[in-house]
Amino acid sequence: RAMKIVKEFEEKCETPIGKLKLVADAMTVEMHAGLASEGGSKLKMLISYVDNLPTGNEKGLFYALDVGGTNFRVLRVQLGGKDAGIVNQQFTEVSIPPNLMTGTSDELFDFIVTELANFVAQEGPDFQLTPGMQRELGFTFSFPVIQSSIASGTLLRWTKGFSIDDTVGQDVVAELTKAMDRKGLDMRVTALVNDTVGTLAGGRYADSEVVAAVILGTGSNAAYVERSLAIPKWRGLPPKAGEMVINMEWGNFRSSHLPLTEYDHALDAESLNPGEQIYEKLISGMYLGEIVRRVLCRMAEEAAFFGDTVPPKLKVPFILRTPDMSAMHHDTSPDLKVVANKLKDILEISSSSLKMRKLIVALCNIVATRGARVAAAGILGILKKMGRDTIKDGEKQRTVIAVDGGLYEHYIEYQKCLENTVNELLGQDLSDSIELVHANDGSGIGAALLAASHSQYLEAEK
Ligand code: BG6
Ligand code: GLC
Repeated sequence: RAMKIVKEFEEKCETPIGKLKLVADAMTVEMHAGLASEGGSKLKMLISYVDNLPTGNEKGLFYALDVGGTNFRVLRVQLGGKDAGIVNQQFTEVSIPPNLMTGTSDELFDFIVTELANFVAQEGPDFQLTPGMQRELGFTFSFPVIQSSIASGTLLRWTKGFSIDDTVGQDVVAELTKAMDRKGLDMRVTALVNDTVGTLAGGRYADSEVVAAVILGTGSNAAYVERSLAIPKWRGLPPKAGEMVINMEWGNFRSSHLPLTEYDHALDAESLNPGEQIYEKLISGMYLGEIVRRVLCRMAEEAAFFGDTVPPKLKVPFILRTPDMSAMHHDTSPDLKVVANKLKDILEISSSSLKMRKLIVALCNIVATRGARVAAAGILGILKKMGRDTIKDGEKQRTVIAVDGGLYEHYIEYQKCLENTVNELLGQDLSDSIELVHANDGSGIGAALLAASHSQYLEAEK
């Protein structure tokens, strides 16, 4: 019976190439709609105000603050300008206490600024601020923000594990600045960016052919370089370079072609943000383990998979984290010891047969494969929108997509499946010229670079 539950689930999760192509087409259609008008699509297609990506000439000491992934990071980097590149960098990583994710805006920003101030206080002689200058900061804030300039923007809504009512509708740079004032920290935010935009900027600094970035971590999202003329809703002056980075907020994509099951609907209904971020809930790290837990729960309830009673821990939402799921999925020991240990340590299930463990690995595989394949379809959607999904005039154009996030970095089966599926979708001829590269912590560097290229002192020089 338990096997039957898994089999049925597997069938509903199927992602044949034909279906993935429909998902990719739907993504392209929604991208057009989101660019045409505000509210034109589930895809917000947010204007980032980044119309110039890093060139390598950026110079000076800059800070970056990265809020919204699993950990929150602070970084300082000394940029040497042309040919010198990054002269020095240091960072610190702190996890945000879970209670602050659902508390008040002031509490969250006070916590962030306290960590930032501690880090700034430790600045050593390897880092040099031009005398008389104020320290400047790139703020990576990985949530949907409607920007009104490169250094301001209001929070549309929270996603992932965050839910703090009084921040919604506020300018997040103003919130941060107020907290800096409360703490007496003299710093100025000169660039506010999404993590995808930061990753794109960091990726471009490392490789001039990076044109898009994808985050596959706690949440998932993508950004890419769009032609200004292809953004009808953009009412400002045409950006200098004729291009604009768009933060898609693809996590909120949905389509009737997505292989959603009853487990996904239940997960969504009981989430912090029902009806939203449907694509994200299918493909990103915050949710994959939870989907597995839900199927296991059904197996326990309806097929007595773990014996006569349902193990109480199995009923606890989000108890099975994606890193644990990944560890079970990658278990290569003959008797699946890792699976047995995870069952014991996390779910307090002390006995399990090899057959049961094998079925659990199979279940992890189904969930990860579906997520990775559906994410690959999203990438094809972007390539289509950029006109990079075909060979033009017989010439192959190298296209690089910077990818970051804990899921992509650590869940190797997911990463491999994503890459294979992108290649499968593109076909042999194109797959050589389109590359996914891991931009490790590219978004921190990217934000610092954008802080540099939008420095108040540069503006004054112009
Ligand atoms: C990090 C980036 O490496 O990945 C962050 O620096 C990003 O900007 C994060 O938000 C996403 O991954 P995760 O797994 O931390 O959510
Ligand atoms: C969520 C956020 C988005 C972010 C992504 C990855 O989808 O809404 O802004 O880029 O997570 O961190």
